[in-house]
Amino acid sequence: MKKTENMPKHVGIIMDGNGRWAEERGKPRSFGHQVGATTLKELLHYIYDQGIQYVSLYAFSTENFGRDKKEVDFLMNLFVTLFKKELKSLKDLGVKVVFSGRHEPLSDTVWNAMEDLAATTKDGENGILNICLNYGGRYEIVDMTKKVVQKVLDGTLKLEEIDDKVIEDNLYQKLPPLDFVIRTSGEMRISNFMIYQAAYAEFYFPTTYFPDFKGKDFDEAILAFQNRDRRFGKNTKKKPNS
Ligand code: IPE
Ligand code: IPE
Ligand code: MG
Repeated sequence: MKKTENMPKHVGIIMDGNGRWAEERGKPRSFGHQVGATTLKELLHYIYDQGIQYVSLYAFSTENFGRDKKEVDFLMNLFVTLFKKELKSLKDLGVKVVFSGRHEPLSDTVWNAMEDLAATTKDGENGILNICLNYGGRYEIVDMTKKVVQKVLDGTLKLEEIDDKVIEDNLYQKLPPLDFVIRTSGEMRISNFMIYQAAYAEFYFPTTYFPDFKGKDFDEAILAFQNRDRRFGKNTKKKPNS
């Protein structure tokens, strides 16, 4: 099903429920992450095929470092495999990959794989994939604040010139605001994901665990988005994204 009207320009996906998906099958949590990675690869191809330009993915939060070392290590190795092999195919779709998040305490192996994928796909002009890895929305605001204050101290920016445009220009990536955020697994919270960019996003919380979230589930999500009435504070009826 190809949809053309009222598509969200920027979709955020909080990929949640891998652990529970595996546990319900009597398998280790890592198995859920592994299957989730396959789901992700297929889903991304599906999404860009629909003509969506910007996707932000929540891959690993700053808080996720609080998990068992075994699970963190598994995820880090999975990211390296994904970036070095599986997601290279995004280049053929003309999708440019960028990353959001802090460098510390990611290992050089992970960081190099991230840089490598970004470099491989840097000329993509059909879409952007923003991977939030070692990412926290609060830290993004902290890091933005430091950049802006430094400019004021350097004299390249005046205090009275600071507005929302300046704030947006100093976030990790220059992207349009999020129109639509999907969080799988039934949890209804944002968990520190792009808190500034989601200011006027529509939210969608399917109960499906991420490994089971396929193209048809994405279609359903888009349909829900298209039936939302986005008002942006005004009292007029407004169609999504119009
Ligand atoms: C999301 O699935 C993947 C990451 C956070 C990296 P979870 O691992 O959070 O799965 P649940 O929520 O425990 O089921
Ligand atoms: C959010 O999921 C982070 C990612 C999906 C990468 P979590 O599973 O870590 O969030 P909480 O702990 O349920 O809020
Ligand atoms: Mg979770």
